[in-house]
Amino acid sequence: MHKVWKLLLLSSCLAVSFTAGAQDDQAPGQAQANKGSGARAELAKQPPTLQNIYGRKHVLLDGRWNYIIDPYETGFYNYRRQPFDQSPSGAGGFYDDRKPKDKDDAVEYNFDSSPTLAVPGDWNSQNAKLEFYEGTLWMRQKFNAAPTAGKRYFLYFGAVNYEAHVYLNGKKIGSHKGGFTPFQFEVTDRLLKGENTVIVKADNTRHQDDIPTVNTDWWNYGGITRDVLLAETPDTYIEDYQIQLAKGDMGRIEGHVQLAGAKGTTGAQDVTISIAELGVKTTVRTDVNGRAAVSIALPKNKVRYWSPEDPKLYNVTIAGATDTLNDRIGLRTIETRGHDILLNGKSVFLRGISLHDENPLIPGRLRGEGDMRMMLQWAKDMNCNYVRLAHYPHSEEMIKLADEMGLLVWAEVPVYWTISWEKPEVYANASQQLTDLVVRDKNRASVIIWSIGNETPVSPVRTQFMGKLADTVRSLDRTRLVGAALEVHRTGDVVTVEDPLAEKIDLASFNQYAGWYWSNNKEMMKFSFKVNYNKPVIVTEFGADALGGYHADSDTKWSEEYQDQLYKNTFKLLDAIPGLRGMTPWVLTDFRSPRRPHPYFQDYWNRKGLISETGKKKQAFYTLKSYYDQKQQQYK
Ligand code: GCU
Repeated sequence: MHKVWKLLLLSSCLAVSFTAGAQDDQAPGQAQANKGSGARAELAKQPPTLQNIYGRKHVLLDGRWNYIIDPYETGFYNYRRQPFDQSPSGAGGFYDDRKPKDKDDAVEYNFDSSPTLAVPGDWNSQNAKLEFYEGTLWMRQKFNAAPTAGKRYFLYFGAVNYEAHVYLNGKKIGSHKGGFTPFQFEVTDRLLKGENTVIVKADNTRHQDDIPTVNTDWWNYGGITRDVLLAETPDTYIEDYQIQLAKGDMGRIEGHVQLAGAKGTTGAQDVTISIAELGVKTTVRTDVNGRAAVSIALPKNKVRYWSPEDPKLYNVTIAGATDTLNDRIGLRTIETRGHDILLNGKSVFLRGISLHDENPLIPGRLRGEGDMRMMLQWAKDMNCNYVRLAHYPHSEEMIKLADEMGLLVWAEVPVYWTISWEKPEVYANASQQLTDLVVRDKNRASVIIWSIGNETPVSPVRTQFMGKLADTVRSLDRTRLVGAALEVHRTGDVVTVEDPLAEKIDLASFNQYAGWYWSNNKEMMKFSFKVNYNKPVIVTEFGADALGGYHADSDTKWSEEYQDQLYKNTFKLLDAIPGLRGMTPWVLTDFRSPRRPHPYFQDYWNRKGLISETGKKKQAFYTLKSYYDQKQQQYK
């Protein structure tokens, strides 16, 4: 990790560039107007967010941020609902951080005397008044900087839910939609020597045309939920790279390096990729656009391939004339052959569990490595080798931890349930979130499956939408598998997986809730599954709600005994499916959901966790562990 240094940043020339998904200072009305062609064109030419942001010189702007709750967006619109930052002066909003000039000046907000909350962190868990709050919150942080000539500066957000408008020193620098993917703004020419003020308008109001849409079964946590960084790069810097084994080829690294630089300076440069431990040192020459393909033959019988049993990460150095980056990268191949999933050429069973980006003990969004390691360790305690990070991109830190701890990952974008399939701007948003996810995590060995969505209703417009997403992800990364959580339908006692989208993905992956949403422990064994795809079968969800500590017989719903019996029944049902190669039961821990109001059994918690909200393991936790111990033996 690059030395994290405090407060010393200097800069000269400015080049404010857009970043993926982000837009410069346009009023939502304006953005709305050009949502059609303009937005897509703008999105199309966005440079990707900086690869390996934590590997660059940076300062974290996390900590205590002052906040103002603004349900009527008074700090953004004048009383005629016209955005202040689109007015001729561009001033007038809370982002001015204005102080009264004298006793005659009645300023109706004040950040200095406003309360603070922790960043990264959702606001819902930090103030009881905000538990159910959906709307706008203004957040302000001050920091000192000393920009340096010949350097460039980027303000980088790991994630802000859902719509963010960002201001630096009273000036709008951009906006972004999407609560789970990173975005950045170049601030080289906006950074002051000395004190700077960054203000974020975060709004988690749900809309039908958003991704995710209005209806989800998770808590709509608002705020700056992941790290905020100020990163420094040289004028010409390494913007992006992919260093991974070629598809199905354990002897060759395939990838690319992309430089970015002040206009016209990028051009051709030598860039050296070295993996000292393997004696690999290869130099490539970038073309005029700063891009070079990478193809490196690896020494025979020397590579320790990354796997859950041996999560070996190599120190990789990418060094250009002006910029050098270090990364820790695992080398592994992942592919399918008929029903089999081959990890490094060997058939593997994905012993998984689904989880949300939520620490039940808070409850709130995972705040940092401690929270994340706790969640992944619980999965490992169950003898998992795989996790489904549902239903949206989790943090980069979480994925890096999975790399380190040896957990295979299913990563997903929140194309969840019934979204507005027919709207091009909705597709652009979904495709952008998918692109941002792949761009960010494409060097992580742990990620083996990109999921393009969950339980989306079969229709021609949906299948076309999802089909395009599958094509998009394949155009970005050929080395991994593409999945989606499909739905099943029942005819009599036969549960069939039949979905035109299955043709576009590499897996027959589906959710099924035998014994909970349909049938029960007594009846469910009469059902059988029909999966007519010569693809690996992955059951992406099954489960039952159980209130931790509530005990009864195994036919009494909400009891731990019911959940436990349902797991035992489900193993028998699924083991009968010839192509079964993995599962991610729903779900590792109880999690908050506004859709679960039963006052006693739920209290706004989805209780399908194998671990309760107090961190207590339920009976089924141990039942799943022993099932996975057997599977591990079987696939030894
Ligand atoms: C759905 C969905 C989950 C949800 C779960 C449940 O299948 O994908 O997000 O929480 O079922 O109902 O518990």
